[in-house]
Amino acid sequence: MKYMRCLINSYICQFHKCYFSSKHSVELLPEVQTLLDSGVMKHRKHPGIRKLPPLQLPADLIEAVYRLVSNENESRILKEAAELKSFLASRRLPIEEDEVNFRLAKYFGPNKDVMTKEQLIKAKRNIRCEFGRWKPIEYNYYQCLAYLAGKLTSNYASIYKVFSEVNSVLPSFQPRSFFDFGSGVGSAVWAANAMWEKSLDEYFCVDSSASMNEISQALLTDENTGKSSIKNIFFRQFLPASDNIKYDLVVSAFSLLDLPSVEERVRTIDTLWRKTKDILVIIENGNLSGFFSVLDARDYVLQIEKQLPDSNGAHVVIPCPHEFSCPLMKEGSKKTCGFYVPYEDIFPRQRTVLKKDWISYVVLRKGPRPTDSNMWPRIVQPVLKKSHFVICRACCSDGMLKELTITKARHGRHAYRCARSSSLGDQLPLNIEQLENNKDNSVTEDCPEKKINKE
Ligand SMILES: C[S@@+](CC[C@H](N)C(=O)[O-])C[C@H]1O[C@@H](n2cnc3c(N)ncnc32)[C@H](O)[C@@H]1O
Repeated sequence: MKYMRCLINSYICQFHKCYFSSKHSVELLPEVQTLLDSGVMKHRKHPGIRKLPPLQLPADLIEAVYRLVSNENESRILKEAAELKSFLASRRLPIEEDEVNFRLAKYFGPNKDVMTKEQLIKAKRNIRCEFGRWKPIEYNYYQCLAYLAGKLTSNYASIYKVFSEVNSVLPSFQPRSFFDFGSGVGSAVWAANAMWEKSLDEYFCVDSSASMNEISQALLTDENTGKSSIKNIFFRQFLPASDNIKYDLVVSAFSLLDLPSVEERVRTIDTLWRKTKDILVIIENGNLSGFFSVLDARDYVLQIEKQLPDSNGAHVVIPCPHEFSCPLMKEGSKKTCGFYVPYEDIFPRQRTVLKKDWISYVVLRKGPRPTDSNMWPRIVQPVLKKSHFVICRACCSDGMLKELTITKARHGRHAYRCARSSSLGDQLPLNIEQLENNKDNSVTEDCPEKKINKE
């Protein structure tokens, strides 16, 4: 039995060695060590913990949602909400013109050159249908209600989670103005208001769907007084191209995948970044398409800031502790950099239903990375907790993925217990030094279970 367990563990270690380098010296930050020594801090509350308990919508928002939904056929809305949710979860990026042309050449060979214009259009349409992984959604009033019932709770929780992390990493960031692209039913507005109510005094929402804007406004309106619960909030249907007015906090949450091409996504990110005075937040589903669109946006912003002659630079606040290319991409892995967000659903009513969503996100800030910024390793795979050691696979400040095997004997009780209390998405308050720059990142030395296995 023990032999089998060792075999499985050593297999896991072997599997991960192709992605994660593993020979490091690991040391808990001295200030954290001191706080743990004195008992002021508990291991399970170490400063890198990022997970939140399941989030719930504010009570007045829940009431407003119930009010809007009960004006219609609720069971039909909930059925459509479930369908929309599963469609959105599996939606892929739109097929690009290059790919259509590539497939055209592959299927029709030289015949494509003698096709009539009509035949060409038809063939392209068939290819788009066959690989039709993306469809535009027409958000009419009913579809918006389905979106409200199916997605508001999870989107609010996801956005709030990202804002709360920004707040814990940058407590001095107190935005005054807020801009939301693809604002939908207002998830980001409510989350921003919950996080920075005191400092925010202007909200600007852009959504091409008039029904989304209508519902978003209805949710904010007090039934008795007819007044909006958030002052200075403006709604528009088009993204203003000019960057005359900038906003402290600009957000695009779950909206990039609504855009029909990579060109449109880049143009939108470019406009949003030009409208950003301080921080740009991009959140998408944690599936491959969502992750790729977040990564494209991240790389685009970092790249243009490098190229502009009078640029002040840009850096990533979270989740990456670096500005290098994403190491998951370098390794050609199909894994995404995604994180769970637990939340309490509000449907069916009068029942507590705990669910979780899977998101990818990036928070970019104007200016170079401050020398004292938080660059602790970020855990990007589920933590493996074994009987005498813990394996954390983390993205580190040198842009590398590292497999950190932490034992009580080698790294001390505090480092071991902090690692044991951590999970996917948390940061580890550790100093890491690479011991050997060997291409063959053998795990033999660091994996205690493998050592046992050999013996
Ligand atoms: C999936 S919803 C996300 C809503 C909201 N951000 C949330 O987190 O709940 C995407 C929204 O983007 C809007 N949208 C799509 N294309 C747009 C565009 N070109 N300009 C403005 N809004 C757009 C859609 O109408 C839709 O409301």
